[in-house]
Amino acid sequence: MKKAKFTRSAEGYNLAAARYDEKEKYLNSFEQKKVLPLIGNVSGKKILDVGAGTGRLAVELAAFPEAKVAALDLSEKMLERLRRKNKQIECVVGDGENLPFASASFDIVVAAFFIVHLKEPKYFFAEAYRVLKDGGFLLVTNINQKDPPRVKTSTGDIIIESYYHRPEQVREELETLAFTIEKEIFVKEKEVWVNQIIKARK
Ligand SMILES: C[S@@+](CC[C@H](N)C(=O)[O-])C[C@H]1O[C@@H](n2cnc3c(N)ncnc32)[C@H](O)[C@@H]1O
Repeated sequence: MKKAKFTRSAEGYNLAAARYDEKEKYLNSFEQKKVLPLIGNVSGKKILDVGAGTGRLAVELAAFPEAKVAALDLSEKMLERLRRKNKQIECVVGDGENLPFASASFDIVVAAFFIVHLKEPKYFFAEAYRVLKDGGFLLVTNINQKDPPRVKTSTGDIIIESYYHRPEQVREELETLAFTIEKEIFVKEKEVWVNQIIKARK
């Protein structure tokens, strides 16, 4: 088998964007319908989806009445796909570790399948804390992925920069920032956790 090319996130997801939505079922299987209910009714809320990709969650959240959703991602090509699905969502190309938003400007920040691409998620957590209003919450998921998968693209297979994060460390980093862990769910497959889902309140 030909060696896969290693890429940073922006380059990798720009290449992977065209086929990303084919994986929707697979991605959903790591959530087992637990993420959206945990976020709840977002009518009238200001929501930021970080590492929003092609909008798997952002599009669902934007369907609530008066919900205002912003989607941030490093990959222009991923956001281009999102834009085609929903023109009301504000799409911003940017870095989750340096959010281009004012402090205390969102009710909810969501980040699904995102921190796996961060070497040190604590910088994103600090930014999420900063842009949240008091009483707002962060919904973050952490997949149990020790070996990054090969991703098929039109120019050959790639491996996108990824990192494994211990669940205890994720919790600890959130608590160090003064988040309160309101809910933690482990999605399991055959007794092994595959995804940690945390709702953390500011
Ligand atoms: C696995 S996808 C998840 C997309 C979407 N959240 C979902 O659940 O389907 C990861 C996304 O994070 C983005 N990403 C990676 N590192 C980033 C960073 N530092 N800042 C913003 N986005 C980033 C990638 O471009 C990609 O679109």
